[in-house]
Amino acid sequence: MSDFPFVDGHMHAEGVPLARIAEDVGTPCYVYSAQAMVSAYDHFAGTLRDTLGHEQPMTVCYAVKANPNLAVLATLAARGAGADVVSEGELRRALAAGIPPEKIVFAGVGKTRHEIAYALRQGIHQFNVESLPELAAIDAVARELDTTAPVALRVNPDVDAGTHHKITTGRAENKFGIDIDMVPEVLAELRHLPNVTLHGLAMHIGSQIPELQPFRDAFTRLAELYRQLRREGWPVSRLDLGGGLGIAYRDEPPPDVAGYARVVREIIGPLGAELAFEPGRHIVGNAGILLARVLYVKAGRARHFVIVDAAMNDLIRPTLYDAWHEIVPVDRPAPGTPTVRADVVGPVCETGDMFAEGRPMPAVAAGDLLAIFSAGAYGATMASPYNSRLAAPEILVHGGDYAVVRARPSHAATMAAESVPAWLTGTGGGRPAG
Ligand code: LLP
Repeated sequence: MSDFPFVDGHMHAEGVPLARIAEDVGTPCYVYSAQAMVSAYDHFAGTLRDTLGHEQPMTVCYAVKANPNLAVLATLAARGAGADVVSEGELRRALAAGIPPEKIVFAGVGKTRHEIAYALRQGIHQFNVESLPELAAIDAVARELDTTAPVALRVNPDVDAGTHHKITTGRAENKFGIDIDMVPEVLAELRHLPNVTLHGLAMHIGSQIPELQPFRDAFTRLAELYRQLRREGWPVSRLDLGGGLGIAYRDEPPPDVAGYARVVREIIGPLGAELAFEPGRHIVGNAGILLARVLYVKAGRARHFVIVDAAMNDLIRPTLYDAWHEIVPVDRPAPGTPTVRADVVGPVCETGDMFAEGRPMPAVAAGDLLAIFSAGAYGATMASPYNSRLAAPEILVHGGDYAVVRARPSHAATMAAESVPAWLTGTGGGRPAG
């Protein structure tokens, strides 16, 4: 990755040596390259614009869930990005980072009435609705607020995205979207809901999709349905095509944005609809690393363990999805360094706490720094405090500068939200009454 170059044998993030960040901020920490996310965003948006034509109305609504750090959102907002949010928290973050409400879509299967009301008051662009009961709830909340909610129906096109089963969303058996065959029933109900306005359709079939064919199949079904709605006189004018375009985690060829854009042009272009895209991983995935330090090397009889100070609570993808993340020593190994097959593991008390199993890598020693790649998406945001570990800080690099964009909390601050009830703090020896 060119935004994490080696200079004189030492890995940098843009112009900043990673060793310096580790020294200043401590490890583990997430390090993001602003340049990498800006180029991924510009390439994605620019390729679509060039392929679809500049007169094609479109918004790239960055999927906030991939990396919701305010500095990341502000970086993308400055490039003109909108946002795809799935909770009040994400919506608040997008607004706080300067993303205008008219560029924000609200997706997700379980929006609460409170969240719906908040989003309506902010004047967001559209709700992507995932069920009939949700549609009725949005209508009711809009009525209470004496307004009308702009909606798109998220349809489930029943297409196999060919990705990991835990991140596939467009099969009939997945909880997401309205079954495409059931849309007529929902439309029949929608006629009786005066406080929602149907603007169009939405879809999202999964994440880290390696091929273009699932997109082709899903777009074809969506286009058919869109045409049918227009024929029936529904005044629909918007299509939200979701996210899902993958990134290269290993040495596989990186997914082809140009090919994706051509599929959109061929199938969706002729409809003349206003388009939205919801890429997450593709924008930030390869813009971030998790920086960890080797604590111990434990050469067992069966295994060679490299124990690092980052753990599954910081980056859960390897154990949750068996995901491969490239692991590279920050200092180029001296010539002649042997290659070992290492299990790179963290300090958490779970066998699943590992970043790599039997991975061939140069032998490392305690104190060495390792960069765990492709951690910009679904890394920090999926972290947990398991084993009472402090959240890893996040650093954003910009040329030769860097900023701590999320500080490591203190143990005191982490415990401050908890309290011990009075019956335990009295003189009764800490035993519950009764
Ligand atoms: N739109 C919707 C409605 C989504 O549910 C998602 C992701 C996206 C857009 C963005 O998808 P992307 O472009 O990033 O593929 N934690 C998993 C990924 C879960 C994705 C959930 N939805 C992982 O680490 O692989």
